[in-house]
Amino acid sequence: MDSGQLSRAEALALSGHRHACHVMLYSTTNTQLFGKIPIRYIILMQMRFDGLLGFPGGLVDPSRETLEDGLSRELLEELGVRLPVSIEDHVSSCYGPPLRPISSSSSSSSSSFYSPPPLITHFYVKKIEEEQVKEVERAAASTAADHGLEVLGMVRVPLYTLKRGGGLPLFLSHTFIGNARSQLVSTILRLQMMAREELHKALTLSVQTHR
Ligand code: GTP
Ligand code: MN
Ligand code: MN
Ligand code: MN
Ligand code: MN
Ligand code: MN
Repeated sequence: MDSGQLSRAEALALSGHRHACHVMLYSTTNTQLFGKIPIRYIILMQMRFDGLLGFPGGLVDPSRETLEDGLSRELLEELGVRLPVSIEDHVSSCYGPPLRPISSSSSSSSSSFYSPPPLITHFYVKKIEEEQVKEVERAAASTAADHGLEVLGMVRVPLYTLKRGGGLPLFLSHTFIGNARSQLVSTILRLQMMAREELHKALTLSVQTHR
């Protein structure tokens, strides 16, 4: 287990912390890229308002709603669909402020003294049908309240490697919010969505690929 991990119950017992819940929605698929490269899994991520890649979800106040109800509420806002997430879908809870995006040096002096309560990030993984993936994509691009605002669009994760690091290596070389990149990589490994060696090769290539 990664350092900084704690159980869902331990996390909820901590006072004075903020909580955020995000989910990896995925399905299997039989489709093939260019009619020859098997896609195998569709994993949904999103381009956020700040230009970072992340999973759908958001801040939840456990004194007002359960983590899972809060996550489902965020999914309704961000994806425009009702998708119940349950406690069985919980994968990990992690301490600590996630890496911050580049901070502006022009921030006022008073704001540099304010730091919000520490954040605990809860991660869920939920398998859905390929048809539901398409429904999510349609709704997220049309009726979702946050479309074009907090969420600029849904993206699928390429799980194959092409010439010159195309596919997963280039995808992983983009910039992610918090620990979304490691949430993605560890789930691909845990669910054996790719061969371990192929994933390691993609990770190596991702840091060599030019940005
Ligand atoms: P508001 O409605 O504007 O509050 O946004 P939100 O509730 O949708 O919150 P958001 O999704 O931005 O998540 C809150 C915080 O959780 C972010 O500021 C990040 O620090 C962190 N975060 C966001 N997405 C992810 C993710 O995919 N993985 C992880 N680990 N953390 C994330
Ligand atoms: Mn074409
Ligand atoms: Mn949100
Ligand atoms: Mn969000
Ligand atoms: Mn929110
Ligand atoms: Mn919001």
